[in-house]
Amino acid sequence: GTVILAYSGGLDTSCILVWLREQGYQVVAFMSNLGQDEDFEEAKKKATKLGAKEVVIEDQRKELVEEFVWPAVSGDLIYEGRYLLGTALARPCIVRGLIRVARRVGAGFISHGATGKGNDQIRFEFGCYALCPDIQVISPWKDPSFYHRFPGRPELFEYARQHDIPLPITPKAPWSIDANLIHISYESGILEDPATPAPPHLYLWTTDPEKAPQQAQQLTIAFREGVPYSVSVEGEGTTVHDPLEIFDTCNRIGAKHGVGRADLVENRCVGIKSRGVYETPGLSLLRSAHMDLESLCMDREVKKMKDYLSTRMAQQVYNGLWYSPEFEFTRSCVQKAENVVTGSVQLSVYKGNVFVVKREAPISLYNQELVSMDVQGEYEPIDASGFIRINAVRLKEYQRVKTLMEHK
Ligand code: ARG
Ligand code: SIN
Repeated sequence: GTVILAYSGGLDTSCILVWLREQGYQVVAFMSNLGQDEDFEEAKKKATKLGAKEVVIEDQRKELVEEFVWPAVSGDLIYEGRYLLGTALARPCIVRGLIRVARRVGAGFISHGATGKGNDQIRFEFGCYALCPDIQVISPWKDPSFYHRFPGRPELFEYARQHDIPLPITPKAPWSIDANLIHISYESGILEDPATPAPPHLYLWTTDPEKAPQQAQQLTIAFREGVPYSVSVEGEGTTVHDPLEIFDTCNRIGAKHGVGRADLVENRCVGIKSRGVYETPGLSLLRSAHMDLESLCMDREVKKMKDYLSTRMAQQVYNGLWYSPEFEFTRSCVQKAENVVTGSVQLSVYKGNVFVVKREAPISLYNQELVSMDVQGEYEPIDASGFIRINAVRLKEYQRVKTLMEHK
């Protein structure tokens, strides 16, 4: 049969490609351009040389931004309070690409190089089964005939030598990297010890906040119904509207000022704690701006419910449940809450910090007359006396009972 392999160009998926051929499969290598720094033509040559029947490179950057990043911005998604889900959002996007190719060439199998201890295996496989129920997933790192043959790195290197699989020329960093236009993530290797600080040269994208410009920079981000609509950077004189350009601009300004670094320990879906280091410059800016605009436009009680749904949504995305009934449900609720979130927010970024400077909305729940100390507005102060008296009944009763209990 034919198998579509999520190919990264690295050593692992190159060995998997050859191994799949040895098992009798015809292999179509699939590479997704998600904005990572990668020589796709070089990788294509490599996969072809290793015997791939076809190599498909899909530019999924726009799809990633519009269909995965924008919902994450609308939802204010953050996992365990700190991780902005850069890898978790990319996986269901890649799955779409894989399934498109599988349908086009009539393949019955999908394969990937994610390990059996991680989150990515779950995201790939849930996604594939949801979008294409008849597909069969081949997961070499969970297949005893593969992992008994490759119990460690040396065996993989030996296999590569035997099969003319080019070894990485640059010495590999002592940690693993996953990059796309949302973030760069670093984990495993020397980072596995949470007591080891990440060395300064680990960070490939953002400026060290200490070395960032001495001058703060302002930018204005506009939203329509909770979705980023435009961005303009002070002093650049242009306003960009194209989704990819909006996101690139936020990344560029955020990275320049050292915004979006996080070093944390997270709980993987499978129950393992894992230390990760992340750089997420643009999404950090967008999230701050979006949450600020919500404070202006969204009803207090709706916002409370949305915050709860947001936490659940982040867990769903992290746990590979993008294509699930519960995610469809939370997502549609959030979309409903977001229809009032239209307006713009000005940010000031400075040495790793994001400050909100001002916000405005053409229609909002903010009523300056109502809140003002200077005007009375549609509000009778004497009414507050009754409100306080009635609500204090419960507090007084509680004290009465407490006193009785103490004297028992
Ligand atoms: N821990 C993060 C997550 O689960 C990042 C995973 C990075 N993946 C990788 N294959 N290096 O989303
Ligand atoms: C992997 O295990 O393949 C990477 C880490 C993860 O998926 O969580």
